[in-house]
Amino acid sequence: MVELDYGCALGDVREQWERIENDLRRAHERLLEDKEAGVIGFLDLPFGNTKNVKELVQKKRSFTDELVLIGIGGSSLGAECAVCSLGKAQGFYVMDNVDPDKTVKVLKTIDPERTCFTVISKSGSTTETIANFMAVHPVIKSKEQLVIITDPERGFLRSYAQNNGIDTLPVPPNVPGRFSVLSPVGLFPMAYMGVDVDKVLEGAKKALELCMIEKLEDNPAWIITALHYLHLLNGKNIAVMMPYAERLSLFVSWWRQLWAESLGKEGKGQTPVKAIGTVDQHSQIQLYNDGPKDKIITLMVVEDMEDDIALAPLSEEFSHLAGKTLSQVLKASYQGTAGALVKNGVPVLVVKLSRLDEEHLGSLFIIYECATALLGYLLGINPFDQPGVEEGKRLTHGILGRKGYEEKAQEAMDIAKRCTSSSLRML
Ligand code: PA5
Repeated sequence: MVELDYGCALGDVREQWERIENDLRRAHERLLEDKEAGVIGFLDLPFGNTKNVKELVQKKRSFTDELVLIGIGGSSLGAECAVCSLGKAQGFYVMDNVDPDKTVKVLKTIDPERTCFTVISKSGSTTETIANFMAVHPVIKSKEQLVIITDPERGFLRSYAQNNGIDTLPVPPNVPGRFSVLSPVGLFPMAYMGVDVDKVLEGAKKALELCMIEKLEDNPAWIITALHYLHLLNGKNIAVMMPYAERLSLFVSWWRQLWAESLGKEGKGQTPVKAIGTVDQHSQIQLYNDGPKDKIITLMVVEDMEDDIALAPLSEEFSHLAGKTLSQVLKASYQGTAGALVKNGVPVLVVKLSRLDEEHLGSLFIIYECATALLGYLLGINPFDQPGVEEGKRLTHGILGRKGYEEKAQEAMDIAKRCTSSSLRML
């Protein structure tokens, strides 16, 4: 069961709420048209066949026991979220950043002969991914240990795999990285680590059915879209997601990328902020309650925590806690925090999961993907591209001396000079 409680989320957009349904319907129709035209592919992924993925996992599992995922952004966050939040992370390593501390630490930890190295990049040319692959490939003992997940036809990694006889899986060309968690990009690492990928897709399918209902009160994606859109129009430029479950921490990282990279363009967008309950009650809540009223907040709760522990009596002062469990304290803290936020006029949406398992995670993935796409259409921007990422990549190529990027190298140097022209040297 996934439940959205939005009675305390409407705040000062209640009037607009009554009139938003037609706009949502138009955005929804556009989504379906783009799906039919084959322009967007993420809505087809829940219906995909997992046979290829599972067969390849079986083959690799017969002689390896650990997985190193080399990929970044949409090519790593979804799988990392699922594997870690579902408690399957033993023997799972992600090389996303090009921070040598991270890469070297992984290399020191694994047994390279018993490891499956999975390189994931839709473009097949992302600097971080290629650099980590270049750092790692000397330790890979045989090509059988490798899997490359990339565009079915284009890019360096596709031709590298073809030329070297490496096993591959495709990234559908009409699915951008951050919408690709339900494709082999997410499913292969998940299945390798023991996540039941059929159940993930099953959850996504069930939720997608709801996301197709053309009635605001019954469609979870429409509700999330409408709330964030209307509050954004009312100056709430920040969307906070705060689960009261540490296991959902990486889900928030996944959502943060989806929201930021899909919606932040042409001067528009809503800044996604990650918070964790209760930890950030002691860090960010002061600002949320008492600072500028520029936020819509999503709290997330998991009703049935996997583990729990009872509190033993300690002193009369804390006798109200004795006999309760940690999850009861967590729940009370969420209720207290939600109450204070509501009293302070902050719109609060609550997402409740009965438990955190494959099906629920699959539902969350597709609901938030649909909501992001719809919000992009309402804002009049293309949620599926990322033009703002490209210039930084071009300048980096120039700095690293890539052929054809000489002008960018010069430009990067000029900018660096400008930045250091006023500088304070300390110690
Ligand atoms: O969502 C996106 O498109 C990006 O975050 C990409 O996933 C990220 O930049 C990695 O790109 P690639 O998969 O081409 O290596």
